[in-house]
Amino acid sequence: MNSDISASIMCADPLHMERDLYILRDNGVAYLHCDVMDGHFVPNLMLGTPTLKAVKQADILPLDLHLMVEEPEKVLDWFAFGEKDLVSVHVETTKNMEMALEMIRRRGATPAIAINPTTPLESVIPFLPELGMLLVMTVQPGFAGQTMSPDSLRKIAEARRMLDEKGLTNIRLEVDGNCSFENAPKMRAAGADVFVAGTSSIFNPSFPLAEGIRRFRQVIKNA
Ligand code: DX5
Ligand code: ZN
Repeated sequence: MNSDISASIMCADPLHMERDLYILRDNGVAYLHCDVMDGHFVPNLMLGTPTLKAVKQADILPLDLHLMVEEPEKVLDWFAFGEKDLVSVHVETTKNMEMALEMIRRRGATPAIAINPTTPLESVIPFLPELGMLLVMTVQPGFAGQTMSPDSLRKIAEARRMLDEKGLTNIRLEVDGNCSFENAPKMRAAGADVFVAGTSSIFNPSFPLAEGIRRFRQVIKNA
C-alpha cells in the first residue's frame, strides 16, 4: 500500500494557517490531521468546531479528524466532515462504538478507530470489518513533542499481522506521535502506511515546511 502523510494542524503556526495549508497540499501531503481534545479523555483542549468548519469549507485537503473525546457519539454531529474525510474515535471512549461508526459512515466519511499505547489490540477486533483505518497511537494522546512509546513498533507490526491474517488488507494503518525522520521508516517497515507529521518532522522552525515534507516523503516512500 502507498504511504501517505497526514499533517498535524495543531503543530502548524496558527497565524499562518492558510499559507501552510497550501504548502502542505502543493508538496504532496494527503490529509490534514485535526486533533480534537475535550479536556477529559486527554488533559488538554484543542481545535474547536468553528476552526474545523473553516478548514473544511476551505477544502484544501481532506481531513483526518482525530476525536480524543469521551462519548464521541454525542458530539460527532457538531463537526463538519464528509466524503473525502477520515474520522477516528477512540476505542477507550464509548460503549456505543457501533453507533459512532455508523454516524461517520452515513455521512460518507471513512470510519476509523484510534487506540492508545496501553490499550490491547484485542479491543478493536469486534469492529474491524467496519473500519477503513486503524490509528495506533505511538504516544499518549494529548500533546505534541513526546517520545515514542517503547512498545510501538511491536504493536504496529502486530496490528498489521492481525489485519493481514483476517484478510482485511484494505484497512489502512495510521501512526500518530513522534513520527520523526528516524522513527517513521521503522514504523513503515513494521506496517504503517499513514503517518501523522508534527513537530518531530515537518513542523520544525529550523527549516522550511516544504523542505520538511520533501524529506519526510523520502523516508516513508514505499519499501
Ligand atoms: C496527538 C497529536 C500529536 C502530534 C504529533 O494526538 O496528534 O501526536 O500532533 O506530532 P509530534 O511529531 O509532535 O508527536
Ligand atoms: Zn492525533
